[in-house]
Amino acid sequence: MTKTLKAAFLGAGYIAKIHSKNLLKLTGIEISSVCDIERERAENLVSSIGSNSIKIYTDFEKMLNECNFDMLFICLPPFAHSGQLEAAVEKGVHVFIEKPIALDVNRARNMVEAVKKAGVVSQVGYHMRFGEAVKKLKNLIDCGIAGIPVLFDGRYECNSLHSSWWRDYTKSGGQVFEQAIHLYDLSMYFLSEPESICGFTTNLCHKDVSDYTVEDNSVSIVKFKTGALGNIAATNCAVPMEWNGIFTVVCKNITAHFKDANNAEFIYTSRDDVERENVTSSTDMYFEEVKAFVQAVRGDGPALCTIEEGYKSLCMVDAVVKSSGQGGKVVKLSF
Ligand SMILES: NC(=O)c1ccc[n+]([C@@H]2O[C@H](COP(=O)([O-])OP(=O)(O)OC[C@H]3O[C@@H](n4cnc5c(N)ncnc54)[C@H](O)[C@@H]3O)[C@@H](O)[C@H]2O)c1
Repeated sequence: MTKTLKAAFLGAGYIAKIHSKNLLKLTGIEISSVCDIERERAENLVSSIGSNSIKIYTDFEKMLNECNFDMLFICLPPFAHSGQLEAAVEKGVHVFIEKPIALDVNRARNMVEAVKKAGVVSQVGYHMRFGEAVKKLKNLIDCGIAGIPVLFDGRYECNSLHSSWWRDYTKSGGQVFEQAIHLYDLSMYFLSEPESICGFTTNLCHKDVSDYTVEDNSVSIVKFKTGALGNIAATNCAVPMEWNGIFTVVCKNITAHFKDANNAEFIYTSRDDVERENVTSSTDMYFEEVKAFVQAVRGDGPALCTIEEGYKSLCMVDAVVKSSGQGGKVVKLSF
């Protein structure tokens, strides 16, 4: 019989609602407790789940001391990480953590070390890795059919003021940390570890919004260890109410144009005739990532997208912002 796994949530906002809903679609799961510094938000999450046995906390330490849970879903904004993950893993709790895993790379490194020392399962919320088209290209690269990946060309576009913490540079790190990081993660996933990065960030459309201190435009060039190259741009000056992450990956034998992580045109270039294939899917990537995490916790599947990888993508976006602050100087990365 499947053992019941107990889960707790830290941070009860937008993404916590999605993860809790998906988690409860799986068998053998119980949500034991929810913690948010704003009690009302924790109460809202619990009422959306529709259970009256879930304990509500505003103090994480108290929740950790009083409740037994196997898994913690950390759904905090980037600025709010202050040792909660480290305390949880020390107790043997497996962690699913939203991206970016921190604002500061030194804190993130400590988090990685804590997970390694504890030997627990960790997973970072890079749901785009679970898109069908992304999975297909990754398999074709890993088995050698795609040939060497040479170029990643990605663009993230939206136009929204987002929440107050999101538009505060000291709390979110900006659009590069909050959104484009998905593309930085994918570039590394497909191409290899990054070696150096240079970039620029600007604010052109939100100068009149007094508390908007993040960039609304960014662009970077990445050199990967294999010699592959990438360019990634993001803007918050595009079409209102649309959030689009599009990217092209060029490999020696396949060029793939992604409309999103589920849908892409694959063009096979090594055959006598160039062949085109449309890959389409409506897979719920948020459900798939949570399912994969639970499987890894049960020992029924590999640990995917671990905190170590969350650390590397954080280093990439941190380097973009650092480079921009130094007039576009190349920043070397070593992990
Ligand atoms: N993977 C994705 O597609 C995706 C989508 C949305 C959000 N996210 C990520 O999830 C994280 C949270 O985003 P969100 O949209 O859910 O934000 P949100 O503002 O809706 O929710 C965050 C919650 O955390 C709570 N909080 C803040 N500091 C806290 C603390 N110290 N202790 C306990 N609770 C605290 C807030 O009160 C709030 O309820 C962000 O890092 C964001 O990038 C990822």
